[in-house]
Amino acid sequence: MNFTILRFDSIESTNAEAARQAKAGADEGVCVVARRQTSGRGRHGRIWISEKDAGLYLSVVLRPRIETRFLPLITLMSAVAVYDALVALYRLQPDIKWANDVLINEKKICGILAEMTETKTNSAIVLGIGINLTSANFAPEIAETATSIERETNHKPDCEMLLENLLGQIARRYEILKNDDGARRTREAWARRSSYHDGKNVRVAAAGNETITGTTCGIEPDGALRVLTGDGAIKIVRAGDVERLRAV
Ligand code: BTN
Repeated sequence: MNFTILRFDSIESTNAEAARQAKAGADEGVCVVARRQTSGRGRHGRIWISEKDAGLYLSVVLRPRIETRFLPLITLMSAVAVYDALVALYRLQPDIKWANDVLINEKKICGILAEMTETKTNSAIVLGIGINLTSANFAPEIAETATSIERETNHKPDCEMLLENLLGQIARRYEILKNDDGARRTREAWARRSSYHDGKNVRVAAAGNETITGTTCGIEPDGALRVLTGDGAIKIVRAGDVERLRAV
């Protein structure tokens, strides 16, 4: 995949801009990067605080020709790409919390929001990634639960180097996903990097106000999380927030 990078000093949301570009016919690989977002979007309608130069904020337009049922694997693939960039550049030891939060020592360093958007030719996916570069100005509401590359390495990272490495990892993972056995390889890559894949005690705030408590036991072909509950049932989670439960 060839990337075309569109840079903004300040923008409402790189996801919103990438969706606009996709609707206007942008090719796969158009990538919107901003130094600051005034209305950064998180999952489940939350906001993603995006102070100037405190994070890498980017959104890539994808036009995936893969089976529709495997589209959720794009978010898993992206978490793998971020994980590998953090290892390659900073020798960090990340973890991936289902589905696609990248953590360091259980604190969130990256969030991913993939959004589908209808365009004239086909539906496109806007893959939005926010990576915390520095925590100097973390808002109080995330200070305890988030971390940054600077905090973990004691050095302010070079944003351009991170962008370049990350786009390379995304391109590689995307090519793999498009192969005949790409779904399986993507799931395996994710499973190897996520301690949440198996045997983790969790509480899941799932869609429809349902709370599921149990132990994770792998993922479904489309990346949905399997949770074994106390009564021996396996619940399949396709959307929700996962929280780790500690033994008391
Ligand atoms: C999450 O809630 O964990 C997902 C956060 C995704 C944030 C990124 S920052 C770049 C892109 N543009 C947005 O508005 N959101 C994503």
